[in-house]
Amino acid sequence: MGRLNRQLDPTQTGTEAEKLETDLRKRIVGQDEAIQQILNIYQTNLAGMSSPGRPIGNFLFLGPTGSGKTRIVEATAEALLGDPGAVIKIDCAEFQHSHEIAKLIGSPPGYLGHRETHPLLSQEMLNQYHTERTKLSFVLFDEIEKASDALWNLLLGILDKATLTLGDNRRVDFSRAMIFMTSNLGAAEMNGILHPSLGFAAMHTSPRHVDHSTTDKVRRAGIEAARKKFSPEFMNRIDKTVVFRPLGEAELRKILTLELNIVQQRIFIAGKGSPFVFSLTDAAREHLLREGTDLKYGARHLKRAIDRNLVHPLSNLIATGQVRGGDLLRVDYDGALQRLTFVTEAEDMPAYAMVQMADISLAPPPGTLAATASVDHVRVANARGSRR
Ligand SMILES: Nc1ncnc2c1ncn2[C@@H]1O[C@H](COP(=O)(O)OP(=O)(O)O)[C@@H](O)[C@H]1O
Ligand SMILES: [Mg+2]
Repeated sequence: MGRLNRQLDPTQTGTEAEKLETDLRKRIVGQDEAIQQILNIYQTNLAGMSSPGRPIGNFLFLGPTGSGKTRIVEATAEALLGDPGAVIKIDCAEFQHSHEIAKLIGSPPGYLGHRETHPLLSQEMLNQYHTERTKLSFVLFDEIEKASDALWNLLLGILDKATLTLGDNRRVDFSRAMIFMTSNLGAAEMNGILHPSLGFAAMHTSPRHVDHSTTDKVRRAGIEAARKKFSPEFMNRIDKTVVFRPLGEAELRKILTLELNIVQQRIFIAGKGSPFVFSLTDAAREHLLREGTDLKYGARHLKRAIDRNLVHPLSNLIATGQVRGGDLLRVDYDGALQRLTFVTEAEDMPAYAMVQMADISLAPPPGTLAATASVDHVRVANARGSRR
């Protein structure tokens, strides 16, 4: 009763898909279309509506370097399987010759080295990250434009029939896999559109947002390049082609915050019982952004800048005992020295205060804080007694 003759809402998603969406939005900046396509395919699969005898989804990701193509696959694995590393990655450029293809599928029985090869694409490898709840595999073929003909043929079979025949004739079933393929195809054309005057200055000042018409041109350049290079039989096997948007300053700024959270999270994990927190002044953030902006390499350059200017110095401070568990480090920028500076602003902070301080939108991994909480209890007590 009450259910009849009412308009239903087919745009509504289930709670599991909603959780995936929230997780992806937390981790991926500016690539809404890609997020949406992954969600659609996931939701279809949850409902049991995926086409039988095919992979759950075949995605082709195009777009500039460092725009999040690989990251979104890792983030999906992290959200659904709890581990960003739960992705089988195949760098197509590394499988040019037949003996390299054997690394993927193994060699025929009796063949020299047959016993030693554990093919990268066996059923066990594919299923290794399955969890109690989620029996999905994520397979990423990076830079497919560099695939040799032999690899290409394997790929076509997987995309179409969800099967692969190994060297010893065993069959691998890919019908529980999402297949992601990335390509930098059209990157040169895209760069031409993004930076018509490819001078040094132009490369290091990003537009606040890359506007719609530019994004659209980049999109068309990507799809055009893919159509030219890839055969129709390949393109017909793709469920979704997504051209990733070039990232502007506003996006890089958000990614900076995300990456700083990730560094903080790493300190919580690596620091086991004695993590510390750091906090960047606006000047320090601006410095990282300036150093990390190179539109040709997207967010990749930003990540390198964070490593060089923040992670390496922090590691030195840890290794030399200059920073201790419970410390609050203030990271500032010194214009004269042209580098970041590090000052201990507080010590003996309890775990809960550090977590609040760190403001990590990505929660610290389970277990790490339970461990720190008890240790810090002691330390706070000590601090009140002797160290102040
Ligand atoms: N859209 C994005 N959102 C969040 N982080 C990103 C994004 N794009 C790039 N990054 C960051 O930059 C790094 C390199 O991006 P990646 O996904 O490897 O680029 P590519 O598009 O070349 O595969 C990622 O590991 C991630 O830290
Ligand atoms: Mg990549």
